[in-house]
Amino acid sequence: MKPLYLLILILVFPLMLSAQEPVTAEGEVIFLTGRILDVDGSPVAGAVIEIWQTDYQGVYDHPGDRKTEIRDRGFQFFGSSTTDSQGRYSFRTILPGEYAPRPPHIHVKIKFEDRVLLVTQFYFQGYGNTPGGRAADLVLELTGDEQRTASIDVVIRTGLKDGDRALTPSQSEGPYYPLQDPGSYDNDLANVE
Ligand SMILES: [Fe+2]
Repeated sequence: MKPLYLLILILVFPLMLSAQEPVTAEGEVIFLTGRILDVDGSPVAGAVIEIWQTDYQGVYDHPGDRKTEIRDRGFQFFGSSTTDSQGRYSFRTILPGEYAPRPPHIHVKIKFEDRVLLVTQFYFQGYGNTPGGRAADLVLELTGDEQRTASIDVVIRTGLKDGDRALTPSQSEGPYYPLQDPGSYDNDLANVE
């Protein structure tokens, strides 16, 4: 083989490998769905929901997580979904693990017209000590045997409107806020393309 052909093969071979089947995350696959609603109950189209979470072991892709070196390389720790005309969003992800002392949770940020309108966290009924009070509105229930699904509608205020619908409680981003832009990732976290 001529040296030039050999050089081309060496350069192209890694690309051939990366074009193989997507890598699937370990853990329990779940579907996260719901609507984004305005305070008057109308669906908000074009809202962007960004999420970030741990893998099945409770490990983040974040330099501040001391276990980040052992994170699941088959998991896409960040994701985003844009609402359709009915205000619907959807994600395919995995049930996050725990990192003591926190129960499993998914961090959520809602953007509309380039403004951040809500930062909060979702929890799971039956997995650890979930919060009470208004934050109990953020506790999801997984249903279905074949396709484990959790659904939640989130209420935001897009403008200077008055309404009787309660806003979804906000919570902090936590210590493992994303250093990458979740908006550049798709809504399927259980597969790394
Ligand atoms: Fe967290």
